[in-house]
Amino acid sequence: MNILIAGGGGREHALAWKFKQSSLCNNLYIAPGNAGTASLGTNVAIAVTDFETLASFCHANKIDMLFVGPEEPLVKGIYDYFKTNPSTAHIQVIGPSKDAAQLEGSKAFAKEFMLRNNIPTAAYREFNENDYPEGITYIKNHDLPIVLKADGLAAGKGVIICNNHIEALAEFELMIQQAKFGDAGKKVVIEEFLKGIELSVFALTDGVDYVMLPEAKDYKRVGKGDTGANTGGMGAVSPVPFADAVFLEKVKQKVVEPTITGLQKEKLDYKGIVFIGLIKVNDEPYVIEYNCRLGDPETEVVIPRIDNDLVELFSAVAEQRLQEITILTNPQTAVTVVAVSGGYPGNYQAGKIISGLEDAAIEGSVIFHAGTKQEGEDVLTNGGRILSVTSYGDNIADAVGQSIYVLENIYYDGMYFRDDIGFEFR
Ligand code: AMP
Ligand code: GLY
Repeated sequence: MNILIAGGGGREHALAWKFKQSSLCNNLYIAPGNAGTASLGTNVAIAVTDFETLASFCHANKIDMLFVGPEEPLVKGIYDYFKTNPSTAHIQVIGPSKDAAQLEGSKAFAKEFMLRNNIPTAAYREFNENDYPEGITYIKNHDLPIVLKADGLAAGKGVIICNNHIEALAEFELMIQQAKFGDAGKKVVIEEFLKGIELSVFALTDGVDYVMLPEAKDYKRVGKGDTGANTGGMGAVSPVPFADAVFLEKVKQKVVEPTITGLQKEKLDYKGIVFIGLIKVNDEPYVIEYNCRLGDPETEVVIPRIDNDLVELFSAVAEQRLQEITILTNPQTAVTVVAVSGGYPGNYQAGKIISGLEDAAIEGSVIFHAGTKQEGEDVLTNGGRILSVTSYGDNIADAVGQSIYVLENIYYDGMYFRDDIGFEFR
């Protein structure tokens, strides 16, 4: 099979690494890819939202499978574009249709979907400019903390947790009246704060059946001990120690099954990953968000723990044969530690030379590239998150220790990483 992966981060490098291990994978392309994916396949300089150019590339290069990494092309309808275009309709596209991708593309849609399908989630109301005054009253009478969510995609920045009413009212005004998040924030979901521990689960569905992929926990804050600004993710662990078999069974019954059944009932065409962000409150799972794709950096620990052939697995999704598949999970612990640019998630400089990459690689670890690019002989930083070093271990402490060892042998100006990933479990 000829495969194209859309995306260019650590997630896509991890997918390319795993696809490449399959004997069913012939030509592998990554659009746009990074310096790491270039060693596994061919990088193609096409933006993930340029559907027309992606489609003609696929046609010209006899692509059989398109795996879509990030949310933006999915929410903008890449699945539908390929399926309705005669030259690409035969291609196996892994990802939901545009309508189904609203689970991630609209927080209000996701909340209504959960209500309709009896899926446990935080109590909420939704407001727009027409009922702005009611929103103000709602906020004033709401317990603290209070959570404000821009309805649409806001590059991971659209969720604001406020500890006092003045801040909440100010944020509400910024979103609705000043369009802080553009149209994405013209509708706001206001919801109750859930206090508990977070966990991400991944259901892979072919539209009828589903299988669970390994679960993961990511570390979103930039600073040690989960402090400081929110980032795309500074590291992840899998498995998650508190997610025992009893709790995961509860998640399946109360969250995953009603989600998959709901998609079918509502005729939402979905052949891909349903990433469910959960908070465990008093031993009960509550959904805080749906994503219509794999997470980054969660993928860098989830994919290394799957022993199945990836081409076989995703072909079964596209051909609605998932019932034939059993997920083979590697029992080892996987941890990934993300190295970022100095200043991230605020301002940072790109174009720094990364040294030590070749010699740093050791048995039991994989260095996934995120924001990197090749320039002549050099690998340069090219974004906020630069590398994601995944290690296997018998436990979280061992695996983290090994990733840190690898990172200590790599250098670029301003390099920073958290050395306490998985701290609460060590
Ligand atoms: P998101 O941008 O949807 O991934 O949300 C960002 C983060 O906000 C989540 O990872 C949670 O830590 C937090 N969050 C979202 N909704 C809630 C909630 N209802 N209660 C507590 N924390 C929340
Ligand atoms: N790491 C969080 C995400 O991919 O949404």
